[in-house]
Amino acid sequence: MKIKKAVIPAAGLGTRVLPASKAMPKEMLPIVDKPAIQYIVEEAVKSGIEDILIITSRGKTTVEDHFDRAPELEQKLLNSGKEQVYEEMVAISNLANIQYIRQKETKGLGHAVYCAKAFVGNDPFAVLYGDDVIIGEKPACGQLCDAYEQYGKGVVGIKEVPTEQILKYCSLKTKHLEGNRHSVTDMIEKPRREQLFSNYAILGRCILPPKIFSILEHLKPGAGGEIQLTDAMRELAVIEGMVGVEYEGTRYDMGNKLGILQAIVEVGLTHPEVGDDFRSYLAEICKKYGV
Ligand code: UTP
Repeated sequence: MKIKKAVIPAAGLGTRVLPASKAMPKEMLPIVDKPAIQYIVEEAVKSGIEDILIITSRGKTTVEDHFDRAPELEQKLLNSGKEQVYEEMVAISNLANIQYIRQKETKGLGHAVYCAKAFVGNDPFAVLYGDDVIIGEKPACGQLCDAYEQYGKGVVGIKEVPTEQILKYCSLKTKHLEGNRHSVTDMIEKPRREQLFSNYAILGRCILPPKIFSILEHLKPGAGGEIQLTDAMRELAVIEGMVGVEYEGTRYDMGNKLGILQAIVEVGLTHPEVGDDFRSYLAEICKKYGV
């Protein structure tokens, strides 16, 4: 079955990137000239997604404005002969059928996904975490959709990470299936060292069956007192197994200061407009600091 719906949770408070995220959603932080969430919506569209629900919260109206038409700006661009920029601005509002719902209290990622219950109905759906930008030739979400079509089970996007990092993510019990695919039969959010299953963690993307909502419905708060999506996926993994796809592409954590810098530098280096100048600048600055 083709995955046509996606949910992008973007309601978090972004406390790790304050003060940047105090009045501006971290999902709107720019990577050179596009806000992070636009890269994510574009990835979903390239993966065949048609309907997107963005979970927002207070103070996030700029996300809605970004994907809306902007008549005054568009007219100004047309009047000053900037037709190409005009076309780009209109194209943003036509990317997909985007809807919004507010998570009234930021009770965790699992709670945010639960807000999508009515939108999802009885279809399997993709979840693209609103602060995880993944850049690569093949859209990461599409790679997961392919695995869902093949196995008919929930799919998680995974990467192997150093032990220090996995303690902040989740750890998966895996067994190699074929190529970059693994079976996942258990998982634990924010493990202690002695609880590690492996160094595989879920990073930024998953495909879930609608039955995740009946699990989320009765879920108690987990790590950090939040309703954790990992705890719900754990039930799914234990009951019927999930598939882990070690996706191709580089993931940038826009919820973390270093991640933001890495994304900007790497996208900047290959940017068609400023890439060449930025490369020379970076080489110069590296010399100055003895890098
Ligand atoms: P994070 O845990 O990285 O977001 O959630 P956060 O809570 O904003 O982070 P910090 O720790 O305070 O810096 C991953 C994604 O889930 C969304 C976030 O917006 C982010 O895109 N999220 C998280 C929600 O939509 N609702 C929540 O209650 C929590």
